[in-house]
Amino acid sequence: MSFSIELELQRFPRHIRLKDGKRTIFRVLEGNDEKALHQLFLDIPERERMFIKHRVTDLAVIREWCQNIDVGRNLPLVALVGGKVVGLATLHQQLGGWKRHIGRVSVLVHPLYRGRGIATRLITEILDISRRAGLEKAEAEFIGEQEAAIKMFAFLGFSELLRLADYVKDMQAVTHDYVLMGMELKTDEEYAGVGG
Ligand SMILES: CC(C)(COP(=O)(O)OP(=O)(O)OC[C@H]1O[C@@H](n2cnc3c(N)ncnc32)[C@H](O)[C@@H]1OP(=O)(O)O)[C@@H](O)C(=O)NCCC(=O)NCCS
Repeated sequence: MSFSIELELQRFPRHIRLKDGKRTIFRVLEGNDEKALHQLFLDIPERERMFIKHRVTDLAVIREWCQNIDVGRNLPLVALVGGKVVGLATLHQQLGGWKRHIGRVSVLVHPLYRGRGIATRLITEILDISRRAGLEKAEAEFIGEQEAAIKMFAFLGFSELLRLADYVKDMQAVTHDYVLMGMELKTDEEYAGVGG
C-alpha cells in the first residue's frame, strides 16, 4: 500500500489557485516544517484546540511528527502561503486489521485563511490519493460542535454514520457529542463502469 501512495505523491508539490485568486502550494509535510506547523497550531484559538486529540502546542510533539513521517501510515498534506503553513490534512491508515480498507481523514485550516476553499481542496486531494491507493472507505471524526466541518464533509459526500451524545471529553474534561462520518470511495474502474 505505501508503495502506491509514494507513487501518487510524485504529483506534489502542486500550485493551487484559491477562490480569491491567491496562490498556495500543497505538498507533503517535511522534516524541517516543525516551526511552521507548530505556529499553525499556536494560531488556532484555544476553544478549537481543545478538540484536537494531541498536545499540539508542545513543540516536541510536532518535532516527533515531522521527523517520523511514514506516509503509508499517516500522510500529512500541508497548504503553504509564503513560508507559512496555513492548512493541514491527514490521511491515516491502519496497515492491518479490520479497518485496513478505511482511511481516516482530518483537516485544519488557519483562522485567517478560512473560507477560501483550502480545506475542500486538501480533502479532495486526500480522497483522490485514498482512492488510487485502493482504500474502499473514508471516515472522519468530529465533536458535535464542529458544525462548519461537518457541513463541509457532507458537501464532499460524507454522511453521518453515528452520533453518540456526551461520549468524548475535551482537555478540560467537559463531555461532547461524538460524530463519525463516512463515505464510500469508488475506484477509477468503478467510475468507468468496469470494476463492478
Ligand atoms: C472546518 C474547516 C477545516 C474549514 O476550512 P476552510 O478552508 O475554511 O473550508 P472551505 O473554505 O473549503 O469551505 C468549505 C465549506 O465549508 C463550509 N464552511 C466553512 N467555514 C464555515 C463556517 N465558519 N461556518 C459555516 N460553514 C462553513 C462552507 O459551506 C464552505 O463552502 P462555501 O465557502 O462554498 O460556502 C476550518 O474551519 C477548520 O479548520 N476548523 C477547525 C478544525 C476542524 O473542525 N476540523 C475538522 C475535524 S476533521
